[in-house]
Amino acid sequence: MFLLFFIGFLLRSKMGRILLAILVAVLSVPIYYIYLKPAPQLPEVDLEEWWGTALSKSKYNDTIRPFRISFTPTMIKDLKDRLRDRHPLTPPLSGVNFEYGFNSKQLETWLKYWGESYDFSEREEFFNKYPHFKTNIQGLDIHFIKVTPEVPAGVEVVPLLLLHGWPGSVREFYEAIPLLTAVSKTRDFALEVIIPSLPGYGFSSEAKKPGLGADKMAVVFKNLMNRLGYKKYYVQGGDWGSLITNIMATFFPDEVLGYHSNMAFLMKPTYTLSTFIGALYPPLVVEAAARDRIYPLFDFYAHLIEETGYMHIQSTKPDTVGVALSDSPAGLAAYILEKFSTWTNKVYRSSRDGGLHNHYTKTQLLDNLMVYWSTNTITTSMRLYAETFNSRYLSLALDDIPTKVPTWVIQAKNEVVYIPTWAIKTKYHNLLNNTILDDGGHFLAFQLPEIFSKDVLKAIESFREWHKKNKKTEL
Ligand SMILES: *[C@@H]1O[C@H](CO)[C@@H](O)[C@H](O)[C@H]1NC(C)=O
Ligand SMILES: *[C@@H]1O[C@H](CO)[C@@H](O)[C@H](O)[C@H]1NC(C)=O
Repeated sequence: MFLLFFIGFLLRSKMGRILLAILVAVLSVPIYYIYLKPAPQLPEVDLEEWWGTALSKSKYNDTIRPFRISFTPTMIKDLKDRLRDRHPLTPPLSGVNFEYGFNSKQLETWLKYWGESYDFSEREEFFNKYPHFKTNIQGLDIHFIKVTPEVPAGVEVVPLLLLHGWPGSVREFYEAIPLLTAVSKTRDFALEVIIPSLPGYGFSSEAKKPGLGADKMAVVFKNLMNRLGYKKYYVQGGDWGSLITNIMATFFPDEVLGYHSNMAFLMKPTYTLSTFIGALYPPLVVEAAARDRIYPLFDFYAHLIEETGYMHIQSTKPDTVGVALSDSPAGLAAYILEKFSTWTNKVYRSSRDGGLHNHYTKTQLLDNLMVYWSTNTITTSMRLYAETFNSRYLSLALDDIPTKVPTWVIQAKNEVVYIPTWAIKTKYHNLLNNTILDDGGHFLAFQLPEIFSKDVLKAIESFREWHKKNKKTEL
């Protein structure tokens, strides 16, 4: 916090800016030399690391089984009982909307709807409208949706892995699936989509031992794609899904034909430093169309700190907060829905209903909540933070290892972070486009399925052209 105010002071006064310029100049010398070092090597990847129990290893089989999502009467009754038999919620302060967290008056309306109006059997049908499967990968029962389009002769079917993040689920892609898999006269290909639940999320089982970070999940999903018979495929992700598919592109560049992301990440000290230099003169660092997404830098970091408390908790004590959230549907609803408010647009904090009804129906958001509640996976989902934001993972410095896999990024107006085009290119040498979207937020596929799907399809089309030009094997 102190550091933040210090940086703020530096940016706000003239003397401070001069001081900062001197500081940056002095610091850049050693940093320049540090980064002249050769890039870190790819770590050794264990393709068979076992995440289940020892017993499950002896019983292992590699069958792919059809799966149905079910909301059992026992689960529904228990949920309704808990929604009814809860402590009264603490009333919000006068004049406060979502500035202190989820507004409890608003929460009442969600809980009432969940217990009394949410149609469990109709929603169960809805969930099952696409074909679901499970297969065991490295001791984890991995759940996935797979939708294959029917195509006329001459149209090629191309596999695309789509990965969700936290606190999302496969539900985020439901509206986009028909758009993504549609056959079009203007395209010589159609997408087959494979949409898994991350391990420990919803219908996929969780690791039984520590260590299943984003890099290890990248291996699980490579193995899933190979299990399904794909030797080469495209990947797409947002949030954790973006990081995991990014790592797949880094680890397996001969398999991943293209990487599309709706959340750019770049964990590079040199990039962070450049944003500080940019505070003196923003055009140095970021394109005009996205300048207000990073600058003023003080506001950017203030917002980031305000909105990432959950991340510190989940990276350190996921099991503690997990006890409360898995015991109380009211708690889970407040915790998860808050993210759909603020990450869709930060200004929704000061809106009466948290802006939740601007883009989603109650049913849509409760569907996503049901994925966590019905499977009791909130605790195991949060552990991904602890398994990734630690010295083991960070010391791999994967963002310092460039990848040649063709890449396409779309950055929504209200995404939590923005990375400038030049900076993305330091990691992704074949960045084919950075779509600077003047709309939308963090849950792009869910919020704007048409814009999302169009961008993904344009990206795959460009990836295919790129492979033709570069005379690589293509799909
Ligand atoms: C394979 O293992 C799963 C559990 O992972 C089990 O449900 C299924 O019945 C097994 N299938 C066969 C053919 O052994
Ligand atoms: C590539 O990104 C630019 C900048 O955001 C955007 O204007 C353009 O529409 C994108 N290109 C395609 C083919 O989508």
